[in-house]
Amino acid sequence: MRKTIHIIAAARPNFMKVAPLFHALKKEAWCDLKMIHTGQHYDINMSANFFANLRLPEPDTNLEVGSGTHAQQTAGVMIKYEEVCLREKPDLVIVVGDVNSTMACTLVAKKLLIPVAHLEAGLRSGDMTMPEEINRVVTDALADYLWTPSPDADENLLRLGVASERIAFVGNIMMDSFEMLRSEIESENSAGKLSLQKNSYGIVTLHRPSNVDNKSKLTQLFNLLTESASLLPFVFPLHPRTKASLEKFGLWNDLKNNQNMKFLDPLGYISFMSLLQDSKLVITDSGGIQEESTYLGVPCLTLRDSTERPITVSEGTNKLVNENILISEIKKILDSSYQSKRPPIKFWDGKTAGRIVSKLRETFKIS
Ligand code: UD1
Repeated sequence: MRKTIHIIAAARPNFMKVAPLFHALKKEAWCDLKMIHTGQHYDINMSANFFANLRLPEPDTNLEVGSGTHAQQTAGVMIKYEEVCLREKPDLVIVVGDVNSTMACTLVAKKLLIPVAHLEAGLRSGDMTMPEEINRVVTDALADYLWTPSPDADENLLRLGVASERIAFVGNIMMDSFEMLRSEIESENSAGKLSLQKNSYGIVTLHRPSNVDNKSKLTQLFNLLTESASLLPFVFPLHPRTKASLEKFGLWNDLKNNQNMKFLDPLGYISFMSLLQDSKLVITDSGGIQEESTYLGVPCLTLRDSTERPITVSEGTNKLVNENILISEIKKILDSSYQSKRPPIKFWDGKTAGRIVSKLRETFKIS
C-alpha cells in the first residue's frame, strides 16, 4: 500500500532543508511524494532560483499565499492547505524549520488527524519575541515525529516532557544540500565574479525584524558596518525586508554608493555558498548561516542576543555579538593569530536524509 506524503516548502531557508529529503523519498517505491509550496516566499531570487539550484521540480501545489501580517499569512496558509489535505488525505505531512508556514501546516494536519513530522525540531532560542520561536514551540507541541539536528534539541524536548519515542536525532539536513552540490559550489567562483580576492572580504546578511524594522537600530548598525568596511570590504546580499527598511528610513541613497560595501540582490544557493566558502568572515542574523559557516569553518558574528543553535557557538565558529563589540570582534578575526575551529559535528555529514528515510520505513513497516 503506497503512502502519500506531503513535504512543505515555503520560504527561502526551507528549500535547502526540503531538497535532500525530497530527492531521497522520490526514490522510494512505497512513497507517493507531493511537494506543497505555500508561496510564503515568491520572488524569483527568494524561491524559483533555489528550486533550480537544488534540482527541485515545480511544486505539485502552490498555495500562493504571499506576504502579509503574521495572522494573514498563517491563516492564508491554513485555509488553502486544509482544502489540499481534505482532497488528498496524506498519510504524513513533513514540515521543516520554523517559518509561519511550518506552524500553519502543522495545525491544519493535526486537526484533520493527519500525522506530522517536524524536521529541525527541538531548537529553542528562549526568546518569545521572535516569531520563529512561537512557531517552533507550537509545531513541536503538536508534531508526532520530532527529527532533531543536534543533541541540545533532544535535551530541550526531553526537558519539556516530550516522550523519547517521538524524538529522533537525525542530524543537520542543510549539510546534505551542501554535499549534494559541493562540486558546483566549489567551481562557481562567486568571489572572482564580483572582483573580490578570496579570503579577504566579509559577507553581511541581515533580515530579522529586531535588527531591521526599527529606524534607530538599523541606523546604528549601518554606521558600524560602514566603519568596519574600511577594515575589509563587505558584500551585502539584501533581503527584501531590509531593502524596504533602508529605503523607508532614508538610509539607502547614502549607502548604495559606498565604495567598500557592495550591495547585491539576494543570491541563489550555489552563488551564496561559494561566496561564503571563500570569505574571511560573515556577519549575520540568519539561523542557517550560523550552521553553514560552522560547517565550512568560516568565522561568524551573529548580531542577536540569543541563538536557537547553541552548538554553533560551543563547537563551531559562531559568536553572538552586539553593537558594542562588533568592531573589536571583527578586528580579532583579522588578527593573524585568530584560529577558526572546524570540528566535525556529529551527524552534520550529508547523510541526514538517508537516516530519515530509514526512520520512515520503520514507521510505515516497509520491509
Ligand atoms: C521569513 C521567516 C524567517 C526567515 C526568513 C528568511 C517567518 C515568521 N519568518 O521572514 O524565519 O528567516 O523568512 O528570509 O516565517 N518579500 C518579498 N519577496 C519575497 C518574500 C518576502 O518582497 O519573496 C518581502 C515582503 O514585503 C514581505 C517581507 O519581505 O512583507 C518579509 O517577508 P516575510 O515572509 O513576511 O518574512 P521574512 O522577513 O522573509
